[in-house]
Amino acid sequence: MTGIVIVGAQWGDEGKGKATDWLGERVDWCVRYSGGNNAGHTVVVGDDTFTLHLLPSGILNPGCRCVIGNGVVVDLGVLYEELDALAARGVDVQHPLISAAAHIITPYHQTIDKVTERFLGKRRIGTTGRGIGPAYSDKVNRIGVRVQDLLDADLLAAKVEASLENKNQLLVKVYNRRPIEPAPIIAELLGYAERVRPYVVDVAQVLNAALDAGDVVLFEGAQAHHLDVDHGTYPYVTSSNPTAGGACTGAGVGPTRIDRVVGIAKAYTTRVGEGPFPTELADEDGQWLRATGGEFGATTGRPRRCGWFDALVVRQACVVNGFTDIFLTKLDVLTGRAQIPVCVGYDLPDGRRVADWPLTETDVEAAVPVYELLPGWTDDITGARTFEGLPPACQAYVLRLEQLCGVRISGIGVGAGRDQTIIRTPLL
Ligand code: GDP
Ligand code: IMO
Ligand code: MG
Repeated sequence: MTGIVIVGAQWGDEGKGKATDWLGERVDWCVRYSGGNNAGHTVVVGDDTFTLHLLPSGILNPGCRCVIGNGVVVDLGVLYEELDALAARGVDVQHPLISAAAHIITPYHQTIDKVTERFLGKRRIGTTGRGIGPAYSDKVNRIGVRVQDLLDADLLAAKVEASLENKNQLLVKVYNRRPIEPAPIIAELLGYAERVRPYVVDVAQVLNAALDAGDVVLFEGAQAHHLDVDHGTYPYVTSSNPTAGGACTGAGVGPTRIDRVVGIAKAYTTRVGEGPFPTELADEDGQWLRATGGEFGATTGRPRRCGWFDALVVRQACVVNGFTDIFLTKLDVLTGRAQIPVCVGYDLPDGRRVADWPLTETDVEAAVPVYELLPGWTDDITGARTFEGLPPACQAYVLRLEQLCGVRISGIGVGAGRDQTIIRTPLL
């Protein structure tokens, strides 16, 4: 029995897709357990680049069976666009298994996502506009539509009609929009029913049986610790639980099934959308990180906000998720700097200097980073395949980050390619 969870340790886009694809060669199952097509996971295989939004990143490994868990919100249009696009590129794709209990994102969720963001104005979250928040709201409000409802046309129609009843009141009376007709939406969803039917399963039963049989199951997190609705920089978060515990609720496996929890952390920090970001650089260094790291959103194309590595951000993720290992990505991007600042504390407005994540959002918003300057390196590291093959200053940077986070750095990314990976401690 081996269950491994991958979790983003910052604000997303740490390179979870690459790490999952790399592990995908070694695992039997790859499972998405939270979020939806707000994710953008980029995988580079040779000269080909694939960006996956809803499909698990294990899909590019023919031996790896893919699963969409109950914790995911599923846009069926996106599911089939992604599957068809991969098939058109000659990838031998298998249709993933899908939880009967997963909720469906409908066009009205996307509409509501966009109008509420507009309505919030300056207080907007900067969502991906994919309908994620409204779909999870319906789930929690107990008026959602689930994958299993596609198998019962009358039930589906009743649920869509009921869900639209109060939304249309809101759309018309608060947002000054036209009401949404249920019939075309019901027809669109039913159009997917026959294609999806053979793959609708009880994911909990399938995965627990696989684990009992000795299979290795990888749970691929989307988003990240600091975007978690409970643990993140609320309200500037997504509407699900990307943290490690979310793998259990979002796929139906008990905590005793999880053997490793791997935090994926970038060697610096990025964030897309609104919300606090203590080490954000509004200057030339920020632009340099964005240009050198190619930091543009894989889902919306938005420029990512960039800043130096923040040990308080990653350490908080280590604590809450119980990381057994860290996979440090994009170390190659930092090559060429004379010195590299790393945030080791925050100065707060009341005069306190803290070394741990602050208690309140007011403190996080006001936090002024305290930096330690580490020596940089100039040698190209993209060809390195061993830790000892890295320049001494680069090794020292990794070891200092490891010390600050208190969790071993087991893997290091030195490029986007599958093989541009250094393993210090085997993850499997
Ligand atoms: P995810 O959302 O966590 O899967 O990350 P994204 O795919 O959105 O963003 C990470 C980007 O960095 C992608 O373009 C990856 O191809 C790329 N990447 C991943 N690991 C590395 C690395 O070690 N070095 C470099 N240079 N690029 C990397
Ligand atoms: P991956 O899996 C980075 C951010 C959005 C916004 C907030 C809420 O590629 O790391 P939502 O559409 O989820 O309601 O938006 O969360 N966000 C991400 N940022 N990477 C992601 O996914 C993200 N998914 C959501 O930018 O700030
Ligand atoms: Mg991404």
